[in-house]
Amino acid sequence: MPDYAKITVDGQTHEFPIVQGTDGNRSIDISGLKEKTGCWSYDQGFANTASCRSSITYLDGDQGILRYRGYPIEEIADKSTFVETAYLLINGQLPTKPQLSEYSRLFTKHANLHEGMKSFFLGYPSTGHPMAMLSAMVCALSAYYPELVKPNPTQEEIKITAIELLAKIRTIAACTYKKTIGEPFMYARADLEYVNNFLHMMFSTPTQEYSPDPAVVSALKTLLILHADHEQNCSTSTVRMVGSSWSNLFASVSAGICALWGPLHGGANQKVLEMLEQIHADGGNTDKYIEKAKDPANPFRLMGFGHRVYKNYDPRAKFIKKKADDLLNALGIHDPLLEIAVKLEEKVLKDSYFQERKLYPNVDFYSGIIYKAIGIPTDMFTVMFAIGRLPGWIAHWIELKENKDKIGRPRQIYTGEMVRHYVPIDQRK
Ligand code: CMC
Repeated sequence: MPDYAKITVDGQTHEFPIVQGTDGNRSIDISGLKEKTGCWSYDQGFANTASCRSSITYLDGDQGILRYRGYPIEEIADKSTFVETAYLLINGQLPTKPQLSEYSRLFTKHANLHEGMKSFFLGYPSTGHPMAMLSAMVCALSAYYPELVKPNPTQEEIKITAIELLAKIRTIAACTYKKTIGEPFMYARADLEYVNNFLHMMFSTPTQEYSPDPAVVSALKTLLILHADHEQNCSTSTVRMVGSSWSNLFASVSAGICALWGPLHGGANQKVLEMLEQIHADGGNTDKYIEKAKDPANPFRLMGFGHRVYKNYDPRAKFIKKKADDLLNALGIHDPLLEIAVKLEEKVLKDSYFQERKLYPNVDFYSGIIYKAIGIPTDMFTVMFAIGRLPGWIAHWIELKENKDKIGRPRQIYTGEMVRHYVPIDQRK
C-alpha cells in the first residue's frame, strides 16, 4: 500500500505522506497543503481531523473499546483507584507502592484552599450554577500561585501545579455545594483518601460526620475513573488549544471546564436527569419523547444518546448501568427514573431512526441515577464529570508541552462582505 495520498487540484497532482498510529489508523498529513495546492482543508467540527499525536488514550468507537495508556477501561475501573488512574494518565505508567502513597499524601496535604479564596464564595449568589463557580475558582488559583504560571514551567513546577489542581478541585466542588445550601465549608481530613475526603467535605457538617456506605464510595470511584480521559473531546481539545498559546495549566483547565459545561458535552448528565424527571412527571410516556427527538422540525434530542466517536454501545455506559443497579440495590432505593431510563433505552435500541444513525446510550445516560442516589444535586453533576476528567486534561496539557505542539490556529472559509466603505451615521439609510 502506498504511504502517500495524491491530491489533484487544477490538474496538478501532489503527494502527501500517510502517517500511521500504533492502532493502525492512517491519516493524511496535509501540512504544506496550501503551499502545494493553493487550498486549505475544510472539516467542520473536526470530524475527520487528527489534531495532534497522543499516547494517552486509545478509543475505537466502532468496536466500543476504550483504553488508558493501553490498559482496558474495564480492568482499570474494576481494579484501580481514582488516584492511581490519575497517576497512570499523567505519568504514563502505573505507580509503585511508594509512588502511589506519596501521590495520595500530596493530595491530602494540598487539599485545603487559601483562606482568601474562600471569601470569593461569599460573593456568589447561592443560585449560581456550580460550573460557573468551578471554572472561575480554578482560574483564580493562578493568582495564588504566581510561581506556577510561567509560560514554560519546569517539570517539577508542572508536577506541583497538577497536584494543586487535583487536590483542590474536589474542595472547590464541595465548597460550591456548601455555598448553595448555606452550610459552612468543611476542611479536608488527613486520614481520608481522595473519594472519601470529597464525600466528607460535601456531606459532613460541623456537628455531624458523614460516614458513606462502601457502595457509595465504590460507585463514585468507578464514575470518576470512567470519566478520567476520552482523548480529543471538546473540553480536552479546548485545554490543548488554550495551552498551545503557553497559557498556564490552571487557566487551560478552567477553559476546559467551560467547554465541558455545554449540554452536548458533559452538561448532558444534568440534562438527562431533568429529561427523565420530565418524562416521569408526564406519566412515563417514553414514546412521546422518542417521537419528539425524531421530529426534524423539533430541536429536542434524547439526552444521553449518541456520540461523535462511538457508533456502538459506549463501554462506559454499560459499566455505569451495572453500577447504578448495584448501588440502588445496596442502598435499598427504588428509583422510578431508573425504570424509565431502562424502558427508554430498550425502545431506542429497537427504533430504526436511532439504529440507522448508530445512536446508543453514552456515558451520561446512567451516571445521573448514581449521583442522585448518592445525594448529589442535579446541577452538580457536570462538576462531578469535571473532577473525573481533570487527570486527562492535565495529561494532555503536559503532552502538548512535551510534543512542542504549535499554537492552535485554524483557518476559515470567509463568507462575509469583501470590502465596504465607512458611511457617516447621518448618511445611513
Ligand atoms: N437524539 C436524537 N437525534 C440525535 C441524537 C439524539 N441524542 N444525537 C444525534 N442525533 C441525530 C441528529 O439529529 C442527526 O440526524 P440527521 O442525520 O437526520 O440530521 C444525526 O443523529 C447525527 O447527529 P450529529 O449531531 O451530526 O452527530 P454529532 O457527532 O455531531 O453529535 C452528539 C454527537 C453527542 C453531540 C449528539 O449525539 C447529541 O447531541 N447527543 C445528545 C447530547 C449528549 O448526550 N451528549 C453527551 C455526549 S457523551 C459525553 C461526552 O461529551 O463525552
